[in-house]
Amino acid sequence: MRQAGRYLPEYRELRSRAANFLNFCYTPDLAVEATLQPLRRYAMDAAILFSDILVVADALGCRVEFREGEGPVLEAVRSVDQVTALRPEGVIPHLEPVFETVRRLSRELPESTALIGFAGAPWTVAVYMVEGRGGTDCSTARNWAWQDTDGFGRLMGVLVDATAEYLIEQVKNGAEAVQVFDSWAGVLAETQFRQWVIAPTREIVRRVNAACPGIPVIGFPRGAGAHYAAYVAETGVDGVGLDAAVPASWAAEALQPRCAVQGNLDNQLLRAGGPALDDEITRILKTLASGPFIFNLGHGILPDTPPDHVGRLAEHIHGWPGG
Ligand code: CP3
Repeated sequence: MRQAGRYLPEYRELRSRAANFLNFCYTPDLAVEATLQPLRRYAMDAAILFSDILVVADALGCRVEFREGEGPVLEAVRSVDQVTALRPEGVIPHLEPVFETVRRLSRELPESTALIGFAGAPWTVAVYMVEGRGGTDCSTARNWAWQDTDGFGRLMGVLVDATAEYLIEQVKNGAEAVQVFDSWAGVLAETQFRQWVIAPTREIVRRVNAACPGIPVIGFPRGAGAHYAAYVAETGVDGVGLDAAVPASWAAEALQPRCAVQGNLDNQLLRAGGPALDDEITRILKTLASGPFIFNLGHGILPDTPPDHVGRLAEHIHGWPGG
């Protein structure tokens, strides 16, 4: 999950040096520093590239703006003509500053610290592109997908190609694992979940595996509930990120025999702190740490989380046998 960000005063300082959030992502000096900030404070085992899932939409020519207090705002794509006007050939050149960030990080990080690259999953990036902003119930995208499956499928096809190429390029430049964030997977009923979450993710996993043998792919179908089992069985991911609502005991039985699991502390509890936080960390470790496991949150760190709570979390985990 996001481990950099506004909860850190040094992040807020760094962020104020860039004209806007996308420039921040596209300035390797700043993006390298933002990636390293949490590692300077805490004993993290991995660094996650500092960027955003919406750089792919931006690189395709769907202009993205991050507005203070409002989140991302995009030029909405709602017709096949607008899909045809996207520029898939521009994606990799446009994202060169991100690859430069990856190269520098891979030189700077110690061997023992993994560098995780990432992208948004096609469904989640499509939701932002179609809705034009976050925080909706995704109904414009879902409606387009039902009423004009082929037209919406064209957009998804463009995103599958761009996402796979983007992840492969991150690996070529030094990423040691990649994560695919499907933050809006949980809004879809079974048929659409299979069509727009499982099938595109399986295709991306297939392409990354073919181009980058041995590089783990982690999927995060947030809110997928009972679909988690099919997601793991059918996409071929090496690891799966669990949101905080997934019962850890169920994940240990149903998912961990097939792949590594990552998760799933409630980010609200990390913010709240106190004895309940310690108890919950222990409970998650007891349930999941005997199998292949990456301790993580169920979703990104909230901006008003006290930084000390994150330090306490890292110490607790490293104090665990095998942590
Ligand atoms: O450690 C890290 O921070 C890694 C970098 C990272 C960011 N975004 C930086 C960011 C990662 C992995 C993401 C993923 C991302 N971005 C997701 C998938 C994971 C999830 O949280 O569900 C999604 C859906 C986005 C899209 C996005 N980016 C939104 C909706 C917002 C606004 C949210 C808000 O709180 O304002 C962003 C902005 C963003 N991306 C911030 C950061 C640190 C905050 C921007 C700021 O500094 O103002």
